[in-house]
Amino acid sequence: MTRGFSRLRLSAAALLCAGMLAASADAQLVGHAPNLGPRLTQAQVTSGALSLLDLRREGRRIFTTPFNKLDGHGEAYDPTNPDHTSFGNRPTLQNNGTFLRVNGLDAQTCLECHGIVSNSTIPATLGIGGVGGMNTSPMFMTRNIDVDDSANNGFAAFDGRLINPPFLFGAAGVEALGKEMTADLQALKMQAMLNPGTVIPLITKGVNFGFISYDGANFDTTGVVGIEPDLVVRPFGRKGENFTTRDFDRGAMQFHMGMQPVEIFDLQGLPTNTDGDGDGVVNELTIGEMSVLHLFANLQKKPEIIPQPGAFEGFITFMAMGCGDCHKPVLVTDSNDHNFSYPDVGTDPSANIYATVDLRQAPMNFLDMPGAGVAVFLFADLKRHDMGAGLMESFGSPLDAQFTTARLWGIADTAPYLHDGRATTLSEAILAHGGEALAARNSFAGLAPGQKLNVLAMLRSLRTPVSPNTNLGPPLLNVNN
Ligand code: HEC
Ligand code: HEC
Repeated sequence: MTRGFSRLRLSAAALLCAGMLAASADAQLVGHAPNLGPRLTQAQVTSGALSLLDLRREGRRIFTTPFNKLDGHGEAYDPTNPDHTSFGNRPTLQNNGTFLRVNGLDAQTCLECHGIVSNSTIPATLGIGGVGGMNTSPMFMTRNIDVDDSANNGFAAFDGRLINPPFLFGAAGVEALGKEMTADLQALKMQAMLNPGTVIPLITKGVNFGFISYDGANFDTTGVVGIEPDLVVRPFGRKGENFTTRDFDRGAMQFHMGMQPVEIFDLQGLPTNTDGDGDGVVNELTIGEMSVLHLFANLQKKPEIIPQPGAFEGFITFMAMGCGDCHKPVLVTDSNDHNFSYPDVGTDPSANIYATVDLRQAPMNFLDMPGAGVAVFLFADLKRHDMGAGLMESFGSPLDAQFTTARLWGIADTAPYLHDGRATTLSEAILAHGGEALAARNSFAGLAPGQKLNVLAMLRSLRTPVSPNTNLGPPLLNVNN
């Protein structure tokens, strides 16, 4: 969730003032300590002293620690700075100093929103890394909410984006695909540069991102579709904003909790001890802590296919209707290796690698493809599409109606559906498709009841992993709230 949040507030007066506030708060909080501990450095992560299981367990700790004031939860507020939407300067609810809820500062821990493995059981099956229900859906960049319909137009006005939390399962496969596709596209861009005046089609793994050309001085990227003109595939975020989960996590930490990873300063060449959000705490998360969080998110089980009766017939219909043009059932990696980098560079997926894991190994267990890497049955193309006026947002951006194709793996267990969770059933989700998906949507609407049941049986065969993190053992420590 980094869009619109690139600017750091670093006003000297506010830093001084916030520093004093934090110091006085500290003095009163006798008997309390930061909840995050012991701290972990990148040198420890890369030392080889910790096993992959240890590193994942450490990552689970970062993902599940409820951060408190002493950890650096929250941020200062500077009334003289007119921008109250950016990290480090958001107002809080009735000036309560901790939470706002309608533009972040909406949680203490990642787990709060990513804690449901299946919503198709009663009671729901809980687990780390899963989806969230409606009451955990963040409200992003909301400026106006007309809940009592004072405009008298029959609906509660709400600008910004309401976003229902997806799961993190199988993220390694998705991230590996995205990086390989980026590498392919960057190579095609180089090909365009070496052949001025030639139009180069941008196709990778069967996904068509339009075309590019070079006139000897500049690239013409007006033909690029479904991604940004920098030709970086960004599978994460509903709008295709982030190239790795780590890239996503940097924003998530700040947006939800006002926790600022050191690397956001490091990547901008600012000193390590920068207190960017003015809350009196520095080094809120180290580079090593973000690395284990990345490893934890990526080294989870992947969703599974458990075929239901009628699913095969439903799959044939699904493909015939054109659903599979966007929801591509499978994409295959070239390599079995998945790399972890820091600093991570969007346009150069092979830069600064510090760890490599085999996608075929547990707990991921991706299917080995002879002569290639692994098969990822994600049911998506990692590309943005215009979904029509019905799903459109109100930012006034050309991307308002565009969304990255939802990955349908695990869909049986993840209601409610669509980016804002408006669909409580699969059929509502399909019928809400418009824009580029209108023809496919109409085909589904026109199916005979028996055929519809088969399509639903196919979708209900796409399950989340059972017990995704059980091998990581019991809780590690207690905190003093
Ligand atoms: C208040 C609820 C909430 C909290 C807390 C939260 N998330 Fe999320 N998470 C979401 C939502 C909603 C999305 C979808 C965002 C989007 O698409 O723009 C998401 C998406 C993600 C994704 C990308 C998944 C994908 O497939 O696109 C990752 C990775 C992620 N979260 C990790 C984290 C981590 C790590 C934390 C803790 C630092 C965290 N989340 C805290 C709600 C939450
Ligand atoms: C043009 C590309 C495209 C086509 C064709 C398409 N979809 Fe989608 N689909 C999307 C996008 C993009 C989303 C996410 C929309 C959102 O979040 O608001 C989505 C979301 C969904 C969801 C909800 C996923 C979730 O996790 O919330 C389901 C179910 C779904 N599609 C099924 C289908 C079926 C069945 C068909 C064929 C009848 C189909 N789609 C055709 C692009 C497409």
